[in-house]
Amino acid sequence: MPRPLRAAIIGLGAAVPEKVLTNADFEKFLDTSDEWITQRTGIRERRIASEDQSTGTLGTIAAKNALADAKLTPQDIELIIVATVTPDMTMPSTACCIQNDLGAKDVPAFDIGAACSGFVYALSVAGKFIETGTYKRVLVIATETLSKFSDYTDRGSCVLFGDGAGAVVLEGTEDTDRGLLYSVLHADGNGWDFIHVPAGGSRSPASLETVGNREHYIKMRGRDVYKFAVEKMQWLLGDCMEKCSLTVDDIDMVVPHQVNSRIIQSAARKFNFPQEKVFVNIDIYGNTSAASIPLAMQQARDEGRIGPGSTLMLVAFGAGLTWAGAIVKL
Ligand code: ACO
Repeated sequence: MPRPLRAAIIGLGAAVPEKVLTNADFEKFLDTSDEWITQRTGIRERRIASEDQSTGTLGTIAAKNALADAKLTPQDIELIIVATVTPDMTMPSTACCIQNDLGAKDVPAFDIGAACSGFVYALSVAGKFIETGTYKRVLVIATETLSKFSDYTDRGSCVLFGDGAGAVVLEGTEDTDRGLLYSVLHADGNGWDFIHVPAGGSRSPASLETVGNREHYIKMRGRDVYKFAVEKMQWLLGDCMEKCSLTVDDIDMVVPHQVNSRIIQSAARKFNFPQEKVFVNIDIYGNTSAASIPLAMQQARDEGRIGPGSTLMLVAFGAGLTWAGAIVKL
C-alpha cells in the first residue's frame, strides 16, 4: 500500500467552561478597569473552569467532539498527543488521563510542553508519525486551565488568561495538496524566565514556604513577552509564506495564537493582511495558551469563515521561549 504523504485534518472539536469572568468582574477585586484591559489586550471576558473541571476533563470533551466530527470512535485512534502547560498532575501525563476517560485502551499517549506554541508543536509531531507511515490516525488535543495557575492578586498577568480546549483528528492521505503542508518549530531557552511557574517542580519542590510566597503561580515579564511576540509573529508570517511560496492572496485565514489583539493586528498589518483574513477571538476567551488556535479554528469554521479547501496559516509563540508556524489546507 502506498505510504500516506500528508496528515489531513478530518475532525475538529472544542470545549470551554460555562463560567464567564468579565473585565467588570476583575474591577471588583483588583485595581484594574475594563478600559485598561480592553485597550491594552483586546480581552473583554474569558472562560473559567469550575472546581470539578480540569485540563483533562476539558480536553476529553474537545476530543469527543473532534471524534464525532470525524465520525470516528476512540478505538479508531492510534496515538494521542496532548499539548498543555497546565497538566492535571505532574505525573501521569494528561494524555494518559484523557486516554482513560475516552476508553482508548492501549493507545499510546503523551504530553508536549511547548506552552502557547504547543498545538503547532503537537500538530507537527503528529504529522511526522503519519508521514512516516507509523500511524494512520492521530488525535491532537490542546487543553489548558490557566485559571488554576493564575495569581488573582497580580493584575499584570491574571487578566490575560482563560481556560479552554480544542482538538483535531489527523488522518494520513495520499493527496499531497491537502493537510499539513509545512511546519516550523523553534525555541530559545535563554528566555525561560519571561513566563514561568517558579515552584512545584524539582528546582523548587512544593513547600509551605513556596506556597506562602505564591510561587506556584505564573510569573510573567509582560513587556518582554510583548516584544518577543511581535518579533516572532512577524518572522513566522514571513517564513511560512516564503517557504511555501505563498502570497497573502493564497492564504484564506491566519489563525494566530490569541496573545494580544494589538500584537496580532500590528504583525498582520506589516504583511498587508486584510483584517478579515486574521482570526481574532481573544475578546471572548482571553489567552488560552495551547488551546487558543484550535478554539479559534472551531469558531472560524462555525462562522463559515473557513471550510474544506481553505488554506490556513497557524502562528504561535509562548513560554520556553518557543515559537512555531504551520500551513494547513483543510
Ligand atoms: N490594570 C491596570 N493597570 C495595569 C494592569 C491592569 N490589569 N496591569 C498592569 N498595569 C499597570 C502597570 O502596573 C503599569 O503601571 P505603572 O506605569 O504605574 O508602573 C502600567 O499598567 C503599564 O504596565 P506595562 O506592563 O508596561 O503595560 P503594557 O502596555 O506592556 O501592557 C500587557 C501589559 C498587557 C501584559 C502587555 O505587556 C502584554 O500583552 N504582554 C504580552 C504578555 C502575554 O500576553 N503573555 C501571555 C503569556 S505568553 C504568550 O501567550 C506568548
